[in-house]
Amino acid sequence: MSRSIISGMGFYVPDNIVTNQDLEKLMETNDEWITERTGIKERRWVIPGEDSTSGMGFKAAKMAIENAGISKDEIDFIIFATLSPDYYFPGPGVTIQEALDLPPIGALDIRNQCSGFVYGLSIADQYIRTGMYKNILVIGSELHSGGLDKTTRGRGVSVIFGDGAGAAVVCATEDENRGILSTHLHAEGKHAKELALLSPATSRWVDTIMKEHDPSDISYYPHMNGNFVFKHAVTRFPEVIMEALQQNGYTPQDIDMLIPHQANLRISQFVQRTMKLNDDQVYNNIQRYGNTTAASIPIALTEALNEGKIKKGDLVCLAAFGSGFTWASALIRW
Ligand code: COA
Repeated sequence: MSRSIISGMGFYVPDNIVTNQDLEKLMETNDEWITERTGIKERRWVIPGEDSTSGMGFKAAKMAIENAGISKDEIDFIIFATLSPDYYFPGPGVTIQEALDLPPIGALDIRNQCSGFVYGLSIADQYIRTGMYKNILVIGSELHSGGLDKTTRGRGVSVIFGDGAGAAVVCATEDENRGILSTHLHAEGKHAKELALLSPATSRWVDTIMKEHDPSDISYYPHMNGNFVFKHAVTRFPEVIMEALQQNGYTPQDIDMLIPHQANLRISQFVQRTMKLNDDQVYNNIQRYGNTTAASIPIALTEALNEGKIKKGDLVCLAAFGSGFTWASALIRW
């Protein structure tokens, strides 16, 4: 049976840097509060109209294909993870298929928020193990900035999220010493509304919202119960990392690099302390990009690779937690 390896990574973030000081001009907030609570110093926000979720995903995908050293025409399936699609439907998977000028291969859109990239990787891994596909493009891309409440009312959410995209080319290999060892997926829908965007929705279409025209209606902005999310995240991250390690007979000390979803630097530091990991075993870049949801792991993984922090043969763990709640991990022998 074939194994899956990540043979190329890529990422793209918009040029427009928005610092904490820039946010002070939009809402009552300050650098000290944001840095202390989240670790974030700046994020990238698309200049309105200048890019899209699929547009950023396309640029990340091109880099990943180039780094994989294959021709785009060898891609035989696309998986696109996002919570901020260009349109309500169709999802951006088909836009990528068109933008890359590919033959009519399949394109799957998945909606698993912060866990989206790891869920996508898991799907790719299963298709490759069964022999159905050989080269799968997995993309995570988010354009949050257009949908945030950038006033003091929305500051608990809007200071955290940034725009960007990351992509991986997942390929079949017969090398038994490398590849994705296992993936682990979880969900707990009873907490769905603790981190959610409730409108517009099939239960509440735009015309209802327009008719009501209620400026105090915040259901069309993302809502987050921050404290509640934090408490669950710091439990679920170590749990799902340990699940992956135990299944493969490893301990936290065996991890060469943990790439946690960049939710909040305090969450990553808490997980690091709980698992007794050294600084050089964990990669964080939320300081520069904020939380880019489905894009955060592939962006961080690409940067860690570019900085030479992951070498062939390393044990790499990806772990995510977010809206749903959903959480997931993947253990990879690089
Ligand atoms: N700037 C300044 N003050 C702010 C603020 C901001 N951007 N956002 C909220 N505040 C204020 C609140 O209004 C509140 O004021 P009050 O005490 O006068 O009522 C105070 O700061 C504390 O708010 P609270 O929400 O309790 O802060 P917190 O310590 O829980 O931190 C989060 C908020 C969101 C940073 C934190 O809960 C968190 O990181 N949660 C996890 C979120 C996450 O990782 N989400 C992504 C998951 S994938």
